[in-house]
Amino acid sequence: MEKSSAKEVRLVNLTKTFITSTRGEVHAVQNVNLTINPGEFVCLLGPSGCGKTTLLRMVAGFEMPSSGQILIDKDDVIAKTPDKRDLGMVFQNYALFPHLNVFQNIAYGLKIQKRPVAEIKQRVLDGLKTVKMDDFAERVPAQMSGGQQQRVALIRALVMHPGVLLFDEPLSNLDAKLRLYMREEIRRIQLEVGITTIYVTHDQSEAMAMSDKVVILKDGLIQQVGSPQEVYHLPRNEFVANFIGKANVLDAKLVSKTADSATIDLEGCQYTIPRTTPWNPGDTVRVVIRPEAVHMGKDEIKSEVLKTIYMGVSQDYWLSVQGKEFEVSDYNPSAKQVYRTGDTVGIGLDGKSLHILDSED
Ligand SMILES: Nc1ncnc2c1ncn2[C@@H]1O[C@H](COP(=O)(O)OP(=O)(O)O)[C@@H](O)[C@H]1O
Ligand SMILES: [Mg+2]
Repeated sequence: MEKSSAKEVRLVNLTKTFITSTRGEVHAVQNVNLTINPGEFVCLLGPSGCGKTTLLRMVAGFEMPSSGQILIDKDDVIAKTPDKRDLGMVFQNYALFPHLNVFQNIAYGLKIQKRPVAEIKQRVLDGLKTVKMDDFAERVPAQMSGGQQQRVALIRALVMHPGVLLFDEPLSNLDAKLRLYMREEIRRIQLEVGITTIYVTHDQSEAMAMSDKVVILKDGLIQQVGSPQEVYHLPRNEFVANFIGKANVLDAKLVSKTADSATIDLEGCQYTIPRTTPWNPGDTVRVVIRPEAVHMGKDEIKSEVLKTIYMGVSQDYWLSVQGKEFEVSDYNPSAKQVYRTGDTVGIGLDGKSLHILDSED
């Protein structure tokens, strides 16, 4: 398909407060500041009710912000109706016209724009080729699977050559296997067209697999913006650490630090983490430890096995450390010693895989 004239989207202090009769003021989106660069794929990620849809609907023009600005290529679009914002949108329920066939569905917007017939045909067929659905032009939505309908909805948005593409949980209605296929398909086409994309999901693995940048929201507030590697390995707070994957958080004492490393004491063992920290020697710090970053059967931190489950790919353990449950995933268990409930086991850690939380909350 043709390259997009990818646009920049900038949100400045964007806020939406709903006044409700039952819940009073609902702060759906609070003071969001975010820049989405031209051609970037950005996921808005967070639990149900955190404000993802409200944020996307404000960008699309279906919801009026309470305050703040939405700049598309530096142009404030708040006063513009959705059709004047140069956006394409793909919804969870596909929103295809049931009585129109695939060709007519995709051609719909171009016809309204009164494009020449030959051009419409060219663009629609070109789009169908992109999703390998050349043979589907005559079918109506009821004759297609959910995944096929969603590909048609995607092409229908793209043939308009918008500067920005918006998705709201587009894969939620598909089964697990098709979701995996479709996320690759959407990302492949997005990269091919080079279009700026804002993609809403509550599925962290989807966000990790697809995004250049992940925006994690909670209660309408941005918790962290970063690459998948940053939000996983360097979470800003405990919420992010737990929302993206699983995390153990233990208390440790900061022993010393240099310009680019910090040494901590954790249960009498010292580890050097190769990054700076805002904390000072003597401070108690909270350390994020991923379940897959723990070595079982080492002579470091003593623990007791509370529970264990064989998962095939890993042997999972719930240990007791600092009086809390501490999860470990020991991969490739057929090559390892397996421990049982009640066993005492020493665990080992690598400074490189530890992360000290910056904030107190
Ligand atoms: N039209 C509305 N009127 C009142 N409250 C709303 C409205 N739309 C959304 N909300 C509330 O705003 C919050 C954010 O909702 P939403 O943006 O749909 O979250 P998400 O898409 O992340 O699940 C929720 O508390 C929701 O109940
Ligand atoms: Mg939603």
